[in-house]
Amino acid sequence: MRIILFTGKGGVGKSTVAAGTAALSAAGGHRTLVISTDAAHSLADAYGLGAVRPLEPTEVAPNLYLQQVDAQQRFEQSWADVQRYLLSVLDAVGMDPVAAEEMTVIPGAEEVLALLELRQHARRGGWDVIVIDCAPTAETLRLLALPEALGWYLERLLPIQRRLVRALRPLLDRAAGVPMPGDDVFDAITRLHDELDDVHDLLRGSGASVRLVLTPEQVVLAEARRAYTSLSLFGYRVDAVVANRVFPAADGDTWRAGWVRAQQAVLAEVQQSFAGLPVLTAPYQSAEPVGVEALGVLAAELYDATDPLAEPVGQGPFRVTRSQGAGAVIHLSLPFVTREDVDLARNGDELVLTVGSYRRLLTLPAGLARLRVVGARVADGELQVRFAEQPDQPDHRPDRQKKDAR
Ligand SMILES: Nc1ncnc2c1ncn2[C@@H]1O[C@H](COP(=O)(O)OP(=O)(O)OP(=O)(O)O)[C@@H](O)[C@H]1O
Ligand SMILES: [Mg+2]
Repeated sequence: MRIILFTGKGGVGKSTVAAGTAALSAAGGHRTLVISTDAAHSLADAYGLGAVRPLEPTEVAPNLYLQQVDAQQRFEQSWADVQRYLLSVLDAVGMDPVAAEEMTVIPGAEEVLALLELRQHARRGGWDVIVIDCAPTAETLRLLALPEALGWYLERLLPIQRRLVRALRPLLDRAAGVPMPGDDVFDAITRLHDELDDVHDLLRGSGASVRLVLTPEQVVLAEARRAYTSLSLFGYRVDAVVANRVFPAADGDTWRAGWVRAQQAVLAEVQQSFAGLPVLTAPYQSAEPVGVEALGVLAAELYDATDPLAEPVGQGPFRVTRSQGAGAVIHLSLPFVTREDVDLARNGDELVLTVGSYRRLLTLPAGLARLRVVGARVADGELQVRFAEQPDQPDHRPDRQKKDAR
């Protein structure tokens, strides 16, 4: 099964290109599902469905299914325990129940729930292709970092909190007047984590890739470059760049000629920036591309006889190579980054990688966790972290034994 995500700056045409790619895939005979993780849900509009809001996969053309996840409804289904708890807390502090009901839909919940929906569809099978129309870049990235961030909390804090709450519940309930979460709440959080972890695996698997959508403008390009770095940081594979709304070169007035020239200059920079990645271009259509047919035409021009579903080639952004002896090197693609932009720290079996405002907690593969970091550098667009055998095992360390003996 193939999973393709589309992301990029707001308004560049993510939904249009996602919808078009799905239409092309379906026309090629692949059972295709297109889901939106964006609360704005413009996919139905792109297909020209009018007021239809497909909450379950709904066939909009042969082989082409569309689903827009309803966060409120899904939240109530899968989060009943947590919601009940949150409501009881809000009730205890005197919150009006209607307002409380609204507050329990946390920001970003739509996207998380859409990803959980994606997981269900992917694991249940029955689809050849799943296309995902993501929210604008920053949100998508935050979302993609969630499983790891939540994992840290769940593995270290949750067990402690759970024990504490269990021990102190009788006391706290009385003292604070606020109900303490029960096991059902902790279980629901653990379940969510496991499911998000699975989403993470799916999205970083060999059948999944991200396509960066941009329009040929400086500001948009700058954001696309940053997104490429961050997506790589989190281990997601970008397999193409889509340059959308490109003005066709033709004789025309000075206004048009000016735009064509400006776009061509940025497009040259796009080619340079993303060297090694295919840059697909879609012309600025003479009318809004709405409806399966118009979207199919746009996608056909975009992929220009190449396979829209081609599997990504290469190794992806993360790999480990062995060096002499028991040593190893972690390679992580970090395009456009210099050594000064990267902050690296070791925390037990994790590497804490910070690039700009993004931080990744990279759990080291089992074989590496017992090794020592002996060096790091940024070269050829990747971060390389060198690991070597510990010079002496902790329990043979004479100074440690001495200290303990004192
Ligand atoms: N190649 C194109 N030619 C002409 N119009 C286009 C083209 N691509 C997209 N559009 C139009 O541009 C508008 C924005 O497109 P779209 O909704 O796909 O962007 P988006 O990136 O999904 O936006 P958002 O960030 O709000 O989700 C729409 O009206 C769409 O029909
Ligand atoms: Mg959109």
